[in-house]
Amino acid sequence: MKKITIRDIQKLKGGESPFATVTAYDYVSAQNADAVDIPLILVGDSAAMVVYGMENTIPISMDELLFLVRAVCRGTKKALVVADMPFMSYQVSVEEAVRNAGRLIQAGAGAVKLEGGLAIMDRVQALTRVGIPVMGHIGMTPQSVNQYGGYKVQGRGEHQSGALLEDAKALESAGAFSIVLEAMPTVLAKSITEAITIPTIGIGAGSDCDGQIMVLYDLLGLFDEFSPRFVKPYAHLKVDALQALRRFKEEVEFQKFPSDLESYQ
Ligand code: KIV
Repeated sequence: MKKITIRDIQKLKGGESPFATVTAYDYVSAQNADAVDIPLILVGDSAAMVVYGMENTIPISMDELLFLVRAVCRGTKKALVVADMPFMSYQVSVEEAVRNAGRLIQAGAGAVKLEGGLAIMDRVQALTRVGIPVMGHIGMTPQSVNQYGGYKVQGRGEHQSGALLEDAKALESAGAFSIVLEAMPTVLAKSITEAITIPTIGIGAGSDCDGQIMVLYDLLGLFDEFSPRFVKPYAHLKVDALQALRRFKEEVEFQKFPSDLESYQ
């Protein structure tokens, strides 16, 4: 089975139809995404919230993310696995960025993702120079939630939209192989997508991006503590899970489970 590379992802730029990508944080979810031919799986730092129950993505550590990267890589035969770089794993210095990205690649990821544009160009250049593919992430970048004062759509107005366009071009020229565009007006995402030659992957950025990404737990209806406008649940697994747990509890209490069928004679 051929493993998808960054070159395959780059070929999806401007394709006939957009491509779908998801986050995953464990072995089984990675197997499921692979089974339906999702070409790229992001081990997102959104794990901070949906896996570890943290308030936002800021507290997650390299080690906490590395455990999940290893599990996802074990469950993935085809998709390109991209690992998010946690807050403070690349901001302090270029050297720290290279060392930490290297740990994610040694854990099995095929690329890393960093938040920021012009400001992180030197990191992107240094990483690509040592052979580590980089995915960019601009727009509403959750690691800057404290700077924004909440999760707010970015790129409204001429000044902000111009700056985001410059960020996208800077990431492309620094060597990024794709860019996530998060929570920005559709027209801006469209003009960024048209202005660069690498694929854009939208989340809350309208339908004109080359691809789309959604947090797996949002897509499956498993996480309901925070639900931005761009989330669309395609299943309601939290409802199903609660129902299954209630039934199991009842059957144990009423001594219906285990029956002879589930017991050894
Ligand atoms: O961490 C994450 O899940 C992400 C996606 C929302 C793009 O960065």
